[in-house]
Amino acid sequence: MTLDALGRPLRSLRISVTDRCNLRCRYCMPEESYEWLPRNDLLTFEETARLAGVFASLGVDRVRLTGGEPLLRTNVSTLVELLAADARVRDLAITTNGVLLAENAAALRAAGMHRVTVSLDTLRADRFAELTRRDLHARVLRGIESLAAAGFTGTKLDSVVIRGRNEDELGDLIDFGRTMGAEVRFIEYMDVGGATHWSLEQVVSRAEILSRIEERFGWIEPIAETSSAPAERFRLADGTTFGIIASTTTPFCSTCDRSRLTADGLWYLCLYAPRGVDLRGPLRAGATDDEIAQIVRSVWNARRDRGAEQRAEMPDRQVLVGIERLKRDPHLEMHTRGG
Ligand code: GTP
Ligand code: 5AD
Ligand code: SF4
Repeated sequence: MTLDALGRPLRSLRISVTDRCNLRCRYCMPEESYEWLPRNDLLTFEETARLAGVFASLGVDRVRLTGGEPLLRTNVSTLVELLAADARVRDLAITTNGVLLAENAAALRAAGMHRVTVSLDTLRADRFAELTRRDLHARVLRGIESLAAAGFTGTKLDSVVIRGRNEDELGDLIDFGRTMGAEVRFIEYMDVGGATHWSLEQVVSRAEILSRIEERFGWIEPIAETSSAPAERFRLADGTTFGIIASTTTPFCSTCDRSRLTADGLWYLCLYAPRGVDLRGPLRAGATDDEIAQIVRSVWNARRDRGAEQRAEMPDRQVLVGIERLKRDPHLEMHTRGG
C-alpha cells in the first residue's frame, strides 16, 4: 500500500480523457469561450493505459473515466478495453453527462466497463436547457434508459443541487432513479475551479437536502458504511436508497484516496490543488515504468492536500479562481481535471 503523509492510501485514479464537453452547465462551464488543451499534448490510449498500469502497481484498484465529457473522445471503448484487461483494476467506471450514452452503452459494456454514473440535475426539459445551455434533455433520458438494456447494474445518477434551480426536484429525482434502477446522489454545489458563478447562498446543504426529502417521504434511515466513497447513503421506508455528497459543508478529505490524471498527463493530488505533477514529460522522454512509479510513490508519500476542508475553514468563502487566471491556466478548470 502506498500511503501519503496523512496515512491515506493511493487507491482511486480518475482519468480525464478530454477537456471538451457538449454541455455548458452553469456550475462548471458558464463562460462563452474556453482555451482547450493542445491536441498534441493529449495522451494516447497506450500512454494512458501504461500510466494506469503504473498506478495499479502502487495499489490503485478503482479507475474512473471522466472529462469534460468522456464519450466525446473518439473510440473511447478502445481505452476501456485496455484498462479492463488489467485484473488489478477491480472497479472500472465512467462519469458521463449521458448525451452520447444511448449509442455508446453497448460498446462500453462489451469493452469491459463495469458501471456508469450519469449526471442528471433536472427532470424538466426547459430547466435542463437553461442549466446546460443545450437542448439535449431527451437524449440524456434515452441514454439512462439504455443502460439496463446494455446489461449495466450499479448505475448512479448525480445531481448537483443549486438553490433556485432544482432544489424542488429532489423527491422527483429519487422517484425517477427508482424506476430506472439507479441510485440518486445529491451533490452540494462546490466552489471548484470553473464555478465562476458560485456563492454560498446557492449551496443547498446536506442538512437541507435531508429535511426536504424527509418532508416528502418521511423517515430516512442512514446506512452505516466504512468506505472511502464520498457519498453518505440513506434508505427510505420503502427501501429506496439515495446518497449525499456534502463536499462543501462536510468535507471528507481525511479519507480521500483519490487522485486525478488530466487528458494531457498532469497528475493532481486534490480537486483544489493549484498545480499538478507532469507525468507526460517523463513518459515521452523514455522513462521506464519503475522510474515513473518512483515519481508517483515519492509524490504521494509527501501528500498533505485537504483542499475541501481548508475551503470549509475559510471565514469569507468566495469564488476559488477568477476568470483571468482560468484563461491563463485551463488546468485549474473542473472540466479539465475531471469532475
Ligand atoms: P463511486 O461512489 O465509486 O461511484 O464514485 P464517486 O462518488 O467517487 O464518483 P463520481 O464521479 O460520481 O463523483 C461524484 C461527485 O463527487 C463529483 O462529481 C464531485 O462533485 C464530487 N467529488 C468527486 N471527487 C471528489 C474529490 O476528490 N473531492 C471532493 N471534495 N469532491 C469530489
Ligand atoms: N459543484 C459540484 N459538482 C460539480 N461538478 C462539476 N462542477 C461542479 C460543481 N461546481 C460535478 C458534477 C457533475 C460532474 C461531471 O462534475 O457532479 O455531475
Ligand atoms: Fe456539465 Fe459535466 Fe460538462 Fe461540466 S463536464 S459542463 S458538469 S456535463
